Amino acid sequence: MDDRIAALQTRICGPEGVEEAGRIIKGGGLVAFPTETVYGLGGNALDPGAARALYAAKGRPSDNPLIVHIADMSDLEYIVSEIPEDMKALAGTFWPGPLTFVMKGNGRVPLQTTGGLDTVAVRMPSDELALAFIRAAGGYVAGPSANVSGRPSPTRAEHVLEDLGGRIDMILDGGRAVIGLESTIVDVTGSEAVILRPGYITAEAMGDVLGYEVALDPGLIREGQAPKAPGMKYRHYAPQGEMTIVKGPEQDVSDLISQLAQEGSQRGEKVGILCSSESSIHYKELPKGISVRVLGSLKEELQIASDIYSALRDFDQMGITVIYSEGFEEKGLGVALMNRLKKAAGGHIIEA
Ligand code: TXA
Ligand code: MG
Repeated sequence: MDDRIAALQTRICGPEGVEEAGRIIKGGGLVAFPTETVYGLGGNALDPGAARALYAAKGRPSDNPLIVHIADMSDLEYIVSEIPEDMKALAGTFWPGPLTFVMKGNGRVPLQTTGGLDTVAVRMPSDELALAFIRAAGGYVAGPSANVSGRPSPTRAEHVLEDLGGRIDMILDGGRAVIGLESTIVDVTGSEAVILRPGYITAEAMGDVLGYEVALDPGLIREGQAPKAPGMKYRHYAPQGEMTIVKGPEQDVSDLISQLAQEGSQRGEKVGILCSSESSIHYKELPKGISVRVLGSLKEELQIASDIYSALRDFDQMGITVIYSEGFEEKGLGVALMNRLKKAAGGHIIEA
């Protein structure tokens, strides 16, 4: 298909398009929408046909369940069989916001949406345009990230157009996503909350509310154990270039990355480097053909997190074949950032 012609069929609208976007969803169509984490691809969560269309548009395996987005607390009861105390406490603090709960379903959300599970994942985003859209769409919007399966999640409307132009009816443009990493997913179906996907809302922040240490799903850490969020098993967020993360003391990391980058360049690879503004000075002397992308300052984790998917997409567009990324400290938001980087690198990490 000719991409330029295909792109013309997908309309991009600002807030003025919300009511029409809602009508499209009610009619069984698909609309991409902004959230504070990443752009979502919306479809009616209560309609099995819409779920099938979402999987088809993304090229996503249909055993990978979708998150149901709501805009009002009073809408929750209709789709879950119980609302645990821990959920109430966490939602009281973090909703609306970048936190998704896995809860026991009651059968109203069809199995096509839940990927055949008897649980349902629910999130109330804080983005104003997202909330208005969800209300206009009838209250229950299934929303996977609006990328083609396997590509980095979209943090701008242009990224959505790049991946899904011509395959969906409309894109609501809300500007750049402020967080840039997908929501934290927390399972509240057991006796204690467990994190299935790390994100902006950290284990520490949830622990402060609940009064106990919130654990990470062992499947995220342990080799050979399946993660509880089916989507975490896929090699997501993958750039086209072969990516390696280099960990260790700052100077050693930049020395090794500089050396590997030059060797790669001499072999004829197009090399890209991902680094913080603090360490970028170490790469100033590298040959011109090597692309250095400064993500942001280590003092502003959010800058780094919110730019990472955009940087990976830019590298794809530039035809970068080999990527070296600095490793970041795995605490606070760094846990989520490193989780996504490791996936992009297919687990390929070396120590400097
Ligand atoms: O920030 C976000 O969460 C974005 C925005 C658009 O809200 N959405 C998003 O959706 O990241 P998606 O489909 O790309 O990722 C959803 C993840 C998958 O890893 C999926 O396996 C997991 O949520 N998930 C959904 N329902 C689940 C359930 N019932 N039990 C366990 N994991 C579930
Ligand atoms: Mg996704």
